[in-house]
Amino acid sequence: METENEKKMSIIYLKYSSEKLIAESDTYFSNLRCSGCGETFSKSEVQTYCHQCNKPLLAEYNLPLHFDKSMLKGRVESMWRYREFLPIENDANMVSLGEGWTPISPMQQLGKIVKSDNIFMKDEGFNPTGSFKARGLSMAISKAKEYGINRVAIPTAGNAGGALAAYCATSGMEGMVIMPEHTPDTFKWECQFLNTQLRQVAGTISDCGRELAAIKEDQDWFDVSTMKEPYRLEGKKTMGYEIAEQMEWLLPDVIVYPTGGGTGLVGIWKAFDEMEQMGWISDFRPRMVAVQAEGCRPVVDAFDAGLSDVSFYENANTVANGLCVPKPFAGELIMKVLYESGGKAIAVSDGEINSSVREIGENEGILVSPEGAATWAATKQLIETDWIHPEEQVLLLNTGSGYKYLEKMN
Ligand SMILES: Cc1ncc(COP(=O)(O)O)c(C=O)c1O
Ligand SMILES: [Zn+2]
Repeated sequence: METENEKKMSIIYLKYSSEKLIAESDTYFSNLRCSGCGETFSKSEVQTYCHQCNKPLLAEYNLPLHFDKSMLKGRVESMWRYREFLPIENDANMVSLGEGWTPISPMQQLGKIVKSDNIFMKDEGFNPTGSFKARGLSMAISKAKEYGINRVAIPTAGNAGGALAAYCATSGMEGMVIMPEHTPDTFKWECQFLNTQLRQVAGTISDCGRELAAIKEDQDWFDVSTMKEPYRLEGKKTMGYEIAEQMEWLLPDVIVYPTGGGTGLVGIWKAFDEMEQMGWISDFRPRMVAVQAEGCRPVVDAFDAGLSDVSFYENANTVANGLCVPKPFAGELIMKVLYESGGKAIAVSDGEINSSVREIGENEGILVSPEGAATWAATKQLIETDWIHPEEQVLLLNTGSGYKYLEKMN
């Protein structure tokens, strides 16, 4: 007998899909593997990260060679169109608010400023709760549901907390959000209206992570911290699938990404790997640019020093909350993407971020997040210094809407 929820999900799926899934099983997900020591981890148990080497786990798939990408046509316009390449076993566990399939648009007015016809933006502000965090939390909550977990907690710079609250609300799970106290109030109200417990901590997301670790000692919460939970990455990687599909399988020359914990950057790169293995795209890869803020630049410092991992950045502070991550847990994976892609890490000031929010708004009519604005500030510098040539196609990721930050922007 189908449960009510199963019925609801299959109606949602079929309503938007011209074809039912063609795979024998709904997912090709096979196992997890430690990104450090290479040890495999079973998908039949709840997994977090490798405690031997303190590194993230990555989901692996038995990728098919026969899956023709044209089969995606007419599917649901959300990240769930890539259903078989996502780790959920049973459709009934999909917790969705319609995340993903965000638009990519040419930035013609901004292009004029830098004398280029080739500037594009993927606008993640269209997601539920106004940021790309919806992708990761939709996946993490779906997978938690699959494992029968019903209490989840997250340290967050803001956007991930709102997303967790939303997916907890719709799935009936209990949530706890731990956020720096200096986060704009809208992020706090969002958690309250979505009925999730909110704790505020003096300091950065690292302090919030420590607070959660202490709480977990005597309370039973499942921790969905960035990259310490392996499935948020799988949600984020759908940005990479969409970039390829929306750009007709020809990737841009450069992708400019605002990097905090690095899930987006690492996820997009993982998607490119998977699609290349299935023959959906060629081996041509964009140069990946990690943009950070001057006030929190651990990835930039590691890149400038040619290091393979990232060190803790002291006294981190920036208007772009999402970039205020002093020590990304996925440091090594981030650096690998930058080196492998022939990319770069670059820092921009809060002043440049604020003026870029205005420049994008005035010219394109899009009120972007400070993190998204940082990509434009960086692109201008990279064009000025000839690292990007005007004929090269450049894709900026606006990772979130600017509407939640208004009280702190000037
Ligand atoms: C709007 C926004 N952009 C970028 C980031 C950085 O995310 P990532 O983990 O992909 O580096 C965050 C994280 O909080 C964010 O909220
Ligand atoms: Zn390991």
